[in-house]
Amino acid sequence: MIAITGATGNLGRATIQQLLKTVSPENITAIVRDPNKLETVPGMQVKIADYDDYNSLVAAFSGADTLLQISSASYGDHATFQEEQVVKAAAAAGIQHLVYTSTLQPSSAAIFDGGRTCYNTEVAIRNSGMHYTIFRNSMYLETIPLFIGPAMETGQIRYPGGEGAISFVGREDIAKALAKVLAAPAKGGRSFNITGDHAYSFGDIARILGEERGLPATYTNISEEEFRTEMEGFGLPPEAVDFYSSMAASIRNREFSLTDMTWQQFLDKPTLDIRAFLGEN
Ligand SMILES: NC(=O)c1ccc[n+]([C@@H]2O[C@H](COP(=O)([O-])OP(=O)(O)OC[C@H]3O[C@@H](n4cnc5c(N)ncnc54)[C@H](OP(=O)(O)O)[C@@H]3O)[C@@H](O)[C@H]2O)c1
Repeated sequence: MIAITGATGNLGRATIQQLLKTVSPENITAIVRDPNKLETVPGMQVKIADYDDYNSLVAAFSGADTLLQISSASYGDHATFQEEQVVKAAAAAGIQHLVYTSTLQPSSAAIFDGGRTCYNTEVAIRNSGMHYTIFRNSMYLETIPLFIGPAMETGQIRYPGGEGAISFVGREDIAKALAKVLAAPAKGGRSFNITGDHAYSFGDIARILGEERGLPATYTNISEEEFRTEMEGFGLPPEAVDFYSSMAASIRNREFSLTDMTWQQFLDKPTLDIRAFLGEN
């Protein structure tokens, strides 16, 4: 039995769709907070659990041998707490193989808040005694519209990304590779950097946006203070402002510029590239 947390989210949903191509629904358990958000798949089990509720996690994982742990959607210490709970509950429930969606270049000294959380979780997984596969995901291509906002239509990018480049990768490609690993997990422990073939700066994105969409595209590297003030103006809570500021600083310091194609052994087609993505979305 393969259990999947975050099954109502973008990556969880896409991974289930990919898994259903080779695994019967009776062998899949979708773990959700709210079953009403999940599209019904006849035969697929659905269990309710919350990352904040240890007992619900143990109950939901029981009976599964393989678990996909989708990283927490929270920030800072709360995210660290939730992810540690998931690892502990997985071991307690008898999970044999844990697959975890980490972030690129996790480290106790990462500038990115999520990089520190994921590092802590990776250590917990390695110490848990379970077999594991870790996907260290770079930024999704699908986050570009979130980074650049109205620039998708105007071409005028404003972001404190400096000259930092990002090795964007499509969520659907990650889901395909996750489904391959979940259907046939290897014994032991393996970690993969999940990246696109190239890294692109926001200046590159502006250029490609101009070429693909015929926009008068430019990139303005705004200051971190300006970025924080804008986020506060949108009503983001302080912890979210800190999280997204740490992400921008991390990008400027090239924590997301690594490229590594090793993981593409799980794919049978080339990955979606940024030009195709920006042209179509
Ligand atoms: N690499 C990147 O560019 C990137 C970008 C965004 C996020 N991420 C990370 O990657 C993960 C997956 O990405 P995604 O696009 O699939 O994110 P997403 O669409 O926001 O999905 C997050 C999933 O986590 C579930 N969740 C949130 N809080 C939970 C809790 N307390 N207990 C149990 N489940 C909870 C959500 O359930 P509900 O539907 O009930 O809310 C949802 O199913 C995110 O959670 C985040 O850690 C990476």
